[in-house]
Amino acid sequence: MHKIIEKKLNYKKFTVNSNLQYFKPHATKIEKTFEEEVSSSLNTPLKSIHPKFFYDKKGSDLFEKICFLPEYYPTRTEISILKKLGNDLSEYLDNDVRLVELGSGSSVKTKLILDVLTKLQEKTEYFPIDISDILTESSGQLLQDYDDLHITGIIDTYEGGLEFLKTYDGKKNLIIFLGSSFGNFLPSEGSDFLKKINSTMKRGDLFLIGLDLVKNKTILEPAYDDSEGITAKFNLNVLSRINNELDADFNLENFSHHAIYNEDDQRIEMYLKSLVNQSVVLSKSNLSITLKKDELIHTEYSYKYRLSQISELLNSTGFEIKHTWLDKNQYFSLTLASKN
Ligand code: AVI
Repeated sequence: MHKIIEKKLNYKKFTVNSNLQYFKPHATKIEKTFEEEVSSSLNTPLKSIHPKFFYDKKGSDLFEKICFLPEYYPTRTEISILKKLGNDLSEYLDNDVRLVELGSGSSVKTKLILDVLTKLQEKTEYFPIDISDILTESSGQLLQDYDDLHITGIIDTYEGGLEFLKTYDGKKNLIIFLGSSFGNFLPSEGSDFLKKINSTMKRGDLFLIGLDLVKNKTILEPAYDDSEGITAKFNLNVLSRINNELDADFNLENFSHHAIYNEDDQRIEMYLKSLVNQSVVLSKSNLSITLKKDELIHTEYSYKYRLSQISELLNSTGFEIKHTWLDKNQYFSLTLASKN
């Protein structure tokens, strides 16, 4: 179905039709494998599993469900803000700015921004950047919804995709990073990432970031420990993934989901708690680990921000804030910034 027709910037170009193309790097960069990362992060006194490993097929499906749970306010709140920002946002846009999304995104949110752009433009370009091929699925649906949309998917890491974009052409970009995904970075990783985004931007480019705000524990904790137990399944699924991919023997019944809000550090902390003294074998890695009863495996941080901290963060990484949009409860924020 896909035809490789061009080599450019160390990427292979796949042309599907006149409205849809993808770029994929020729060689995958030397990064640690799932096996290397997991076996080393579990083989230490403070055990952890990186949250990026949640998202196998099952984990991605569970995350989709989380987004529409009554307790998980971030998705619907961000959508409610996006629904209202149209007129304000169009003041900053023009005829030839293209939409670049970090992550292939939920098409609901992407479409709310595309609605604004397609009203302003005869032809709109959308560049999703995602490490997984998932964007090949979401693109098809978007093309059915918009006649004059041209999609160029970049199947790469965010950093790789941004570098690619920098050398691709001189067109203006609106880069969006939604869903408070930024909150899953550690603070040091987060500011390096913002600096990276900033360094790939030109004057005139814009950056829109969605961030979850500090709020009462009674709202935050249920959002990460819902009554249907979907977040628990999402958290525990990473152990199934390790069982399947690394030939391990985690017994999921010996673990429970644990999510707390750490007020001092302004973050939700997610763990898998060992319910018994146990040992687990990861055959593929030739590794045996022991866990004491009540021992925790850290799986995720989800940072929450104050508006003043968002300003500091963006200003210290080279941005100038243009506009901030909030919902009526001030649960979530969308901030538009340019390169300083
Ligand atoms: C993807 N990320 C922004 C979600 C969050 O809210 O931190 C992941 C998540 N973890 C548990 N529920 C949702």
